[in-house]
Parts: sequence; structure tokens; C-alpha cells
Amino acid sequence: MAKKHPEGYLSAKESRRISRENRKITDQYEKQYKRKNVPEQEYLTQMHNPENAVEFDNLHTYFFTDVGTVKSVDGVSFEVPIGKTVGVVGESGCGKSVTSLSLMQLLQRPQGQIVDGQIRLNLGDKAYDIAKTPMEKMQKLRGNYMSMIFQEPMTSLNPVFRIGEQVEEVIELHDGEGKSKEEIKARTIELLEMVGIANSEGVYKMYPHELSGGMRQRVMIAMALACNPKIIIADEPTTALDVTIQAQILDLLRNLKNKINSSIMLITHDLGVIAEMADYVVVMYAGRVVEKGTVQEIFANPSHPYTIGLMASKPVIGKKVDKLYSIPGKVPNPVNMPDYCYFRDRCEMRCPECDGKYPCEISLSETHKVSCYRYYDKKEGK
Ligand SMILES: Nc1ncnc2c1ncn2[C@@H]1O[C@H](COP(=O)(O)OP(=O)(O)OP(=O)(O)O)[C@@H](O)[C@H]1O
Ligand code: SF4
Ligand SMILES: [Mg+2]
Repeated sequence: MAKKHPEGYLSAKESRRISRENRKITDQYEKQYKRKNVPEQEYLTQMHNPENAVEFDNLHTYFFTDVGTVKSVDGVSFEVPIGKTVGVVGESGCGKSVTSLSLMQLLQRPQGQIVDGQIRLNLGDKAYDIAKTPMEKMQKLRGNYMSMIFQEPMTSLNPVFRIGEQVEEVIELHDGEGKSKEEIKARTIELLEMVGIANSEGVYKMYPHELSGGMRQRVMIAMALACNPKIIIADEPTTALDVTIQAQILDLLRNLKNKINSSIMLITHDLGVIAEMADYVVVMYAGRVVEKGTVQEIFANPSHPYTIGLMASKPVIGKKVDKLYSIPGKVPNPVNMPDYCYFRDRCEMRCPECDGKYPCEISLSETHKVSCYRYYDKKEGK
């Protein structure tokens, strides 16, 4: 742990020391990741359940920064079943994006690294552990097996290239072998039509700034679906859009997912979106999963005090309140996590046992799990 000045600031010398130590650690990971011609056996693995598209198993993703190690994701486990939508919710900064970027191996390198755990990706005839998959192989997996739709399409589309060129580039890169220029263009137009762009020939020639936010997001979806990925990660895909366009985009995503039978990992702050779209829900808090279950279980029987707080803080139509509920306090500092329940200092339901170690996961049903001392009498194994 870094030594701090009495005022809480790090000295320049101390910061340099941390930086040197970090470089030693991250160089090791980078060397491993950038190796060429790695035998497949090194990253082959087996799905624990072949019905899952992805299994996150005790994932730890850290950022080695000059002020210390940020434990952004600290032991996350959940599954994304084939053909289903899993909603991931949680407060800003709880590690939702870092979890999905770990799956894509798109973390900010070299400081961001998967330091422990497995991410098993089901490729049909075999499975890979993404945590060990080298860079050259990842480039083939991205786009073909998994793709990501980001919150703000303007930052993901290149402003100086026409829409058609950008979609074509994705097809050429991942699915272009043996295809002529005309065939690639035809596929691009087909994709633009598939995502509900009426004037597809016109949009093909436009630049991103000539489209509305909703249309840009449709183009991003077209690019993400170009190669029929097995898993689509949608990180706040509709936050930047107004409510009617949001509903259209969500409908589109759901229909396309069913059409190509892929799975969606949907990250959002919006419980309404989760209720409408998700089959399963994962609730994260400070880099860990505090509760998970089917959407019915989480909405009908929210069990972790944080989930209960989340549910209480959403507005309900027809119910008049003076002030919406807000969860008091703030999230602990991810550089220096406590060894007790991370929610304890904000929890209105805490009991004397809560001063103990971080609570382990309790099964409330086959699918419903919660990490909280309140359920310890229901403990059945882990
Ligand atoms: N490149 C980085 N360097 C250092 N810390 C980072 C970096 N990226 C993310 N973090 C830290 O990791 C933690 C989790 O971030 P993440 O982006 O996953 O949050 P999130 O749950 O997606 O939040 P939001 O809802 O605001 O998008 C945060 O504490 C954040 O400060
Ligand atoms: S373990 Fe205790 S402090 Fe933590 S969420 Fe449960 S009741 Fe609250
Ligand atoms: Mg995020």
C-alpha cells in the first residue's frame, strides 16, 4: 500500500516508485498477451454449462495507476445463457463497463489487466478462456463471435469517412474472404435496411454528422451485427437517445437478437429497460456482484439492501411521493477496499454480523443468489 502524506497526498517520489513497480507488473502481462503463435491448448477451456454463451468466473480486473491499484472488478461471476439477455445494473463506477471490456480485451492497456479468474467464451465446437487468449487471436474473435455497441455512437464512428465505407470495412475485415466489392456493398445495404434505415442507398453515402443520434445508433448496431456474433454487448446503448427512439432501438435489438439467435449483455442504469429486455439480472456494487437472478426474482423479490434501495429509488407511475428515495452515503474508494461488506457504511439494514468478513454468496433459489449476512440462516453450501 502506498505511503501517503498526512494531508492524504502522494509525494512525487512515492508516485514514481509506484509507477516503476506498476511497469514491472504490467510488462509481464503485456509480454504474455502479445506472444505470437501461442499453442491453442494454452487458452482452450471447457464451458461449465454448454448452454451458456459466456461464463465470467471470479474475474478480477485491476488498473495499475500512479496512485495505486484500482480494483475495478474484484471477483465477478455470472453467466450469459445462449439466446438470452442478461441485464447488468449498478451505480456509476461499479465496474459494469470494465467487466464487458475485459470480455472484449479492450481494456486501456497497459495499466488495465485481467489479473485473475476466467472468462469462458463458447465458440460452439470449443471454448476459449479470454483471460489467457493472446492478442492475435482476439482480433479474430472480436466482430466474429462478440461485438459491442457503445453509448455514444458519434465517438465510435469515424467523422471523416462515409457510413458505407465504415460498415464495409467491418465486413471486409471479418467476413470479406472471397467476396467481391459489389457483394460487400450489397451486404452493407442489406444490413442498413435490416436495422430500419429506410433510405439505405442515401445513408450509405452520408457522413456520421449528417445522421440523427438514433440513426447513428442504428448504424452502430448494423456494424455490430455484420458477422452474426454469438454475444452482443450493449453498454448503455440508448442513454443518449430520447424515449421514443430508445424504445425503437431496444425493439430492434431484441428482434435482431432473436433472428441470429445470439445473446445480449445489456448494461444500463435504467431499471425500466431491464424489466422490458432482460431475462436475467446481475446487480453490481463496487466491483462485485451483490445479487443475481431471473428478472422476475429480482423485481418481485429484491433481496440485497442495495437492490432494494435501487428499486425504491425508481419513480412509479400513479404513485405520488414528495421526494424519491436516494441511497445515503457513497461507494468506498476502489484503491483501498475494506475487508467487510462494501455496502455496510450505507446500509440501513445492517446487523452485528455485518462487521465480519465480506459475505459469501447465498442461494435463495437455483437462479437467485445474494451476498448478504441477512440471509445467512438460509445458507445452503456456497
Ligand atoms: N482506464 C482506467 N484507469 C483507471 N481506472 C479506471 C479506468 N477505467 C475505469 N476505471 C475505474 O474502474 C472503475 C469501474 O469503472 P467502469 O467504467 O466499469 O464503471 P461503470 O460501472 O461502467 O460506470 P458508468 O455507469 O458510469 O459507466 C471505476 O472506479 C473507474 O474509475
Ligand atoms: S451484509 Fe449487512 S451491511 Fe452488507 S448489505 Fe447485507 S445487511 Fe447490509
Ligand atoms: Mg460504463
